Amino acid sequence: MGHLYTPLVLLWAMYGLIAARSARMVVIDTDLFSDVDDVGSLAIANVLHGCNVVNVTGIAINTHSKYGALAASVINTHFGNLDIPVAAIRPLSNHTFFDIYAFRSHGEYAAKLAHNWPRSINDSSMTPTPVSLYRRVLSSAEDNSVTIISLGFLTNLATLMDSHADAISPLMGRFELGKDVISGAGLASLAPSSSPIRAAYEWYVGRCSTLRESWDPITTLYGILGLEPHPELGIGKTFEYANDFGYNWVSPDGSNAWVNDSRVTNQHWLKLTDLTTNTSLAIASPG
Ligand SMILES: *[C@@H]1O[C@H](CO)[C@@H](O)[C@H](O)[C@H]1NC(C)=O
Ligand SMILES: *[C@@H]1O[C@H](CO)[C@@H](O)[C@H](O)[C@H]1NC(C)=O
Ligand SMILES: *[C@@H]1O[C@H](CO)[C@@H](O)[C@H](O)[C@H]1NC(C)=O
Ligand SMILES: *[C@@H]1O[C@H](CO)[C@@H](O)[C@H](O)[C@H]1NC(C)=O
Ligand SMILES: *[C@@H]1O[C@H](CO)[C@@H](O)[C@H](O)[C@H]1NC(C)=O
Repeated sequence: MGHLYTPLVLLWAMYGLIAARSARMVVIDTDLFSDVDDVGSLAIANVLHGCNVVNVTGIAINTHSKYGALAASVINTHFGNLDIPVAAIRPLSNHTFFDIYAFRSHGEYAAKLAHNWPRSINDSSMTPTPVSLYRRVLSSAEDNSVTIISLGFLTNLATLMDSHADAISPLMGRFELGKDVISGAGLASLAPSSSPIRAAYEWYVGRCSTLRESWDPITTLYGILGLEPHPELGIGKTFEYANDFGYNWVSPDGSNAWVNDSRVTNQHWLKLTDLTTNTSLAIASPG
């Protein structure tokens, strides 16, 4: 996967602009823990949830540190969205992030957010598991009405697909997942002033910078906005399909490659439309 270095600048300024209507339901499955782009994704989702562009019906953490769910709760609390449920994969651990991958300056943020900002979740062990969250959300939703935005590990979704009928849902996991599952994409993010979002970026990126190009925020944006323009937000058509056919082939070692196969037409990769480089997305900093 390459990176998109498109300077999508996020200005945060649109609360209350949107008339109430039934918003698209989204569950975000995130590896919030190491890379800070998940914080950017949850910030975007929280703002758009707050102005009714999307109904974030859950955040599922797919990394084992107990600080993932706590950091997600800090972000939800910061944006005033106490109604967004957070689920955490088990078993929980006490791990904090240390950059043993690059040994550059990438710093820990999840435990710091958990310790320094208010949050509604006291203890990650009180959260539901991701599978129970998914089954509750999906069993009460109409077909094709829930978009799952997958950032990071696919463990939660694999477990859901292997799950069997239970008290929550009479449906088998595989059947329920005839819904959108999205992964991929990138963004340079500018976090706003003294907020947990900005602090997380500063801690992670280091050396007083908050600039971070990444895939997750733009994936989140696509999962919420889709291919349509959003005149109610002052946003034109942002994404379009870049292929007519083919599929993503995932090898057992986890690497992937695009295969040109004219028989497969239901998988796509995205590009930003020409409009997008000039698009400023408004996302307000509430404090
Ligand atoms: C969001 O979806 C949930 C169902 O998961 C529903 O209970 C809630 O009323 C919805 N919220 C809005 C604002 O539509
Ligand atoms: C995490 O730390 C807490 C408090 O020190 C301790 O009670 C708990 O057993 C630890 N959990 C794990 C999985 O090590
Ligand atoms: C969280 O802990 C505080 C202080 O220990 C307590 O007052 C509050 O009720 C707890 N909240 C929940 C949701 O358990
Ligand atoms: C796949 O097809 C596209 C469009 O037909 C072409 O541009 C591209 O080079 C092909 N890629 C491979 C690996 O064959
Ligand atoms: C975007 O900006 C460039 C120059 O900055 C301009 O040439 C182009 O027409 C603009 N595109 C749109 C869609 O506004």
